[in-house]
Amino acid sequence: MKILVIGNGGREHTLVWKLKQSPSVTQVFCAPGNAGTGLDVTNVAIKATDFPQLIKFAQTEKIDLTVVGSEVPLVAGIVDEFKKAGLRVFGPSKLAAELEGSKRFAKEMMAKAKIPTADFRTFKNAAEAMSYIDERENVERFVIKADGLAAGKGVVVCFSKIEAREAIKRMLIHKDFGAAGMQIVVEDFLVGEEASLLAFVDGTTIVPLEAAQDHKAAFDGDTGPNTGGMGAYSPIPIMTSEVVDVIVEKILVPTVHEMNKAGRPFSGCLYAGLMLTNQGPKVIEFNVRLGDPETQAVLMRLKSDLAQIMYAVADGKLDEIEPLEWDERSSVCVVMASAGYPGDYEKGKPLRGLEEAALVPDTKVFHAGTTQVGDQIVNDGGRVLGVTALGDSLAEAKLKAYQAVKYIRWDGAWCRKDISDKAVKR
Ligand code: AMP
Ligand code: GLY
Repeated sequence: MKILVIGNGGREHTLVWKLKQSPSVTQVFCAPGNAGTGLDVTNVAIKATDFPQLIKFAQTEKIDLTVVGSEVPLVAGIVDEFKKAGLRVFGPSKLAAELEGSKRFAKEMMAKAKIPTADFRTFKNAAEAMSYIDERENVERFVIKADGLAAGKGVVVCFSKIEAREAIKRMLIHKDFGAAGMQIVVEDFLVGEEASLLAFVDGTTIVPLEAAQDHKAAFDGDTGPNTGGMGAYSPIPIMTSEVVDVIVEKILVPTVHEMNKAGRPFSGCLYAGLMLTNQGPKVIEFNVRLGDPETQAVLMRLKSDLAQIMYAVADGKLDEIEPLEWDERSSVCVVMASAGYPGDYEKGKPLRGLEEAALVPDTKVFHAGTTQVGDQIVNDGGRVLGVTALGDSLAEAKLKAYQAVKYIRWDGAWCRKDISDKAVKR
């Protein structure tokens, strides 16, 4: 089987690394990929949004399965285009991808299907949004969200009505998020512990993966600005099998049903971003692809043949797949970032110590924002590496991951020092 993975982040490096291990896979390509995917598989210099060139490549190379990594091409309808061209592809259609592409659509779907989530209203008009906030007498904290895709930046958590008014103004009047923020969702702040549960879905069958916990804030102790994710670990002690059963029954099953009813059958990876509250798990958001850095932590523990699973999802035959097998060990992924991230940062700094880091046992350095320049690997993005390790306990996995991190240097490199501590403190 020949596979093409589309994307260039840490998630895509993890996907190609895992897919390549399948006995049935003969070749893996990554378009456009990064320096790390270039070391493990073959990079193809086509952008993730250049659908005609990607389709031409898949046809010429006789690709058996294309796996779309990121939400941008999915929301733009890449799966529909591949299917029209008669190509097998893993990922949701354009209509189903609206679950991530429009927060309003996702919230209205949840309301219809009675899926637990924060109370909300949607607005296009700033004055109306502000009077809604004023009317909510016993609520002080709100979360204001741009409706469309904003690369993880379109969410503002507000700890007072003053902050909420400010965020509404920025989105609807100053148009800070452009078209993505022309419409907003105003929702109540949820209190609890965050967790991500990903599931393979083929329109009917749902197969949950092991849960993972991301670290969205930039700095230790969950302080600082929101980022794409600074690290992850798996499993999460509080995500017991009972909690997972509740999430499947109250969230995943009704979502898959409702999407079918709406004529938007969901196929691919459904990612539920959850708040585990006193009243049970509630949905913060849905994504329509694997998470980053959750993928690094979760796929490191997957023993089953990922290519077979994704092939079955694409063909609507997920029910024919054996139950997933997991490594009992724990995994920790530490993201190393460029100086200045999540704000502006400089690119082109040479990375050192990757060979030494690779020698730490049970550890894999997944690349995200890297590129090859001559014989050097340099940083090319905000999140640069996802250093991921397995250990008999979370503490041991953490120790190994940070041991590998210590070997790696570039001008300005930094990371959080507390990835997975939340699990241990509990
Ligand atoms: P998102 O970019 O949608 O993942 O949101 C970014 C972060 O904002 C989430 O990881 C949460 O920490 C926080 N957040 C979003 N919605 C809520 C909510 N209703 N209550 C509390 N926190 C939230
Ligand atoms: N880890 C958050 C995301 O993938 O959206």
